[in-house]
Amino acid sequence: MEAQDVQEDLSHVLLSTEEVQATIAELAAKVDEDYAGKNPLIVAVLKGAIMVVADLTRAMSSHVDVDFMAVSSYGSGTKSSGVVRIVKDLDTDLTGRHVLIVEDIIDSGLTLSWLKANLESRNPASVEICTFLRKPDAMKVDIDVKYVGRDIPNEFVVGYGLDYAEKYRNLDCVGTLAPHVYS
Ligand code: XMP
Ligand code: MG
Repeated sequence: MEAQDVQEDLSHVLLSTEEVQATIAELAAKVDEDYAGKNPLIVAVLKGAIMVVADLTRAMSSHVDVDFMAVSSYGSGTKSSGVVRIVKDLDTDLTGRHVLIVEDIIDSGLTLSWLKANLESRNPASVEICTFLRKPDAMKVDIDVKYVGRDIPNEFVVGYGLDYAEKYRNLDCVGTLAPHVYS
């Protein structure tokens, strides 16, 4: 990798830092209002959702608990198959809890559809989904997503938690990679 500045590897900025933060603020306001007094359990899906959960929860004023889950989708590197394996499970008992799954991006929706069903089987009071980004044109399953930050075109994006080969998660904006990165 030649460039020292990660920002230089972007060909197009889809969401600027300001747009990212405005999107998070809008999501936080809605979630805060809906979950006031309910002490929700925020379930962040590693690793992509780290930035979203950090900023979203700090923008909220009500009490929340936070737990993490890591799942891996069988299949090729970039396409999800819908067959999911739990790499790291929650430490929290979901019985009677209001669960809010926080995701970085919904592509086919297969991972989240599986995850929602899995968490619903653990006797929670409710399970809803909050995703920072969604690609409507890529969705393969009909999944009810209560909170969506932004709908984006069906292209591969990086930044703000989203990676390409584990890099670019630390960008504070979201963009597409320049062709020189792939070659
Ligand atoms: P599905 O298809 O099951 O997959 O909704 C969601 C997961 O796929 C990854 N993903 C991306 N990662 N840029 C990324 O860095 C993208 O544009 C992208 N699209 C999907 C991501 O891990 C997400 O949780
Ligand atoms: Mg990834």
